Amino acid sequence: MDTIRNARPTDAAAIAAIYNQGIADRGATFETVPRTEADLAERLSDVDRYPVLVAADATGRVLGWASLSSYRPRDCYAGIAEFSIYLDRDARGRGVGRRLLNALIDTAAERGFWKLVSRIFPFNAASRALCRACGFREVGTYEKHAQLDGRWLDVVIVERSLTAVSTTGPSGRSS
Ligand SMILES: CC(C)(COP(=O)(O)OP(=O)(O)OC[C@H]1O[C@@H](n2cnc3c(N)ncnc32)[C@H](O)[C@@H]1OP(=O)(O)O)[C@@H](O)C(=O)NCCC(=O)NCCS
Repeated sequence: MDTIRNARPTDAAAIAAIYNQGIADRGATFETVPRTEADLAERLSDVDRYPVLVAADATGRVLGWASLSSYRPRDCYAGIAEFSIYLDRDARGRGVGRRLLNALIDTAAERGFWKLVSRIFPFNAASRALCRACGFREVGTYEKHAQLDGRWLDVVIVERSLTAVSTTGPSGRSS
């Protein structure tokens, strides 16, 4: 039975390795530079503001992770977060992503965020299906948004309003 829990500092290496698979696959991010365990350890020091969840199997092996990050620094957008989700190649396509993203949605709502957004490459069928399954709406497409390996790529924007709509945002700041 897979477990979903908050990430711990000791998960940094596993999270980096999974993210680096996603970077290498060239299907999910414009990033091309692999992340180190130290990069992820730094990221995991800010989980009070931007949580990171992991899915782990019965042996404790990390299968994937999902996280929130800043959308924009302006106070009026304090309740909006970007999200990311990456699974180990071996763990994809068997429902782990759906459980993990639903858990992240619940966590975000509990923390007072009022909306999650992300951007998806149009050809990332798994991510688009996952977002649809978790209640996201496709807002539209940014055309030729950035280059990946010298090729311009479009991105599909997705958003999901959270049911427990907050008007103050996660840190209690006025919107
Ligand atoms: C995208 C990702 C997180 C999805 O997680 P997952 O565990 O593979 O997806 P699930 O098995 O939970 O499936 C979720 C939904 O997507 C559908 N789906 C999964 N893989 C699919 C695929 N390759 N093509 C089309 N639909 C797919 C499932 O049928 C399911 O829909 P349903 O519940 O309506 O049947 C995972 O595949 C992954 O880590 N991919 C690489 C990194 C990535 O693309 N991250 C997203 C960046 S935007």
